[in-house]
Amino acid sequence: MSLYFQRHRRLRTTAAMRNLVRETYLHANDFIYPLFVVEGNDTKHEISSMPGVFHYSLDRLEEEIQEVTELGIQSIIVFGVPNNKDACGSEAYAEDGIVQQAIRKIKGWAPELVTMADTCLCQYTEHGHCGMIHEGYVDNDSSLELLVKTAVSQAAAGADVIAPSNMMDGFVAAIRQGLDEAGFINTPIMSYAVKYASQFYGPFRDAAHSTPQFGDRKTYQMDPANRREALREAASDVEEGADMLMVKPAMAYMDIIREVKDNFDLPVAAYNVSGEYSMIKAAAERGWVDEKAITLELLTGLKRAGADMILTYSAKDAVRWLKEID
Ligand code: PBG
Repeated sequence: MSLYFQRHRRLRTTAAMRNLVRETYLHANDFIYPLFVVEGNDTKHEISSMPGVFHYSLDRLEEEIQEVTELGIQSIIVFGVPNNKDACGSEAYAEDGIVQQAIRKIKGWAPELVTMADTCLCQYTEHGHCGMIHEGYVDNDSSLELLVKTAVSQAAAGADVIAPSNMMDGFVAAIRQGLDEAGFINTPIMSYAVKYASQFYGPFRDAAHSTPQFGDRKTYQMDPANRREALREAASDVEEGADMLMVKPAMAYMDIIREVKDNFDLPVAAYNVSGEYSMIKAAAERGWVDEKAITLELLTGLKRAGADMILTYSAKDAVRWLKEID
């Protein structure tokens, strides 16, 4: 046969050969595990739309932190679900707010665990929007003041990283200035720089009780159709002083992860969001997909796309599965 062609399959003949030429690896260090904390006592309640993810009260949280650290996960992000909501989300920046209390405790139990705080108002406002409402519109600049207060109170409680997810313009500049003035010059900001108005957040809004009570988030979160706008969002956050950039959601936005990776030199995080997680869980429950294989494939894909780290509800499972493979 005189035909010439490339024999790509030569490097796929055995598992050992495939391992040798493998380009992308997952590691426990890649993951940031999201945790939901609630008020009250003796609560470990599974979120119905997110199997395997729980609401924890503070007295039940230590067991979970222990599990996370024993698995070798180095980082978590804390979401608070407060009992009381009001017009300006005051529980978000209360000194004894649920997140502030949780962070103090977590840092006491696990001082080494990189503990991130999600900085937003939507779980805390009665209208469920991420900022202050003025004449039916989410007002940008008055929201910034409250977000700064929230970030500073989280840093004061011991948060190692501030992760603002609110998508107000100027939130990185405002929070950086607020943190610096309060003396938190060494607290980095992981900006939810490129956050789309996504249907993939559905199960999270159940979990965090943060569904907007009117309208939607399209006046502040991005249009899923836009790629170049993502670069403008990321560029402004870099200019304003972000230390890390996040793309969210992940699965339907892998091109955006790659764009951000190629255009900026900050670490890039991808948020493998609730809807992505729950779709796999639901299909796996029906026996339609192999949960372990498909989850590891997705997470590997996110790293290959350019994510340096991945926020994922699958973190604990993934680390367990990776240990089996090793
Ligand atoms: C708060 C926030 C949301 C998520 C993280 N922070 C929800 C939203 O913007 O509606 C979603 C996370 C997920 O779906 O896993 N603004």
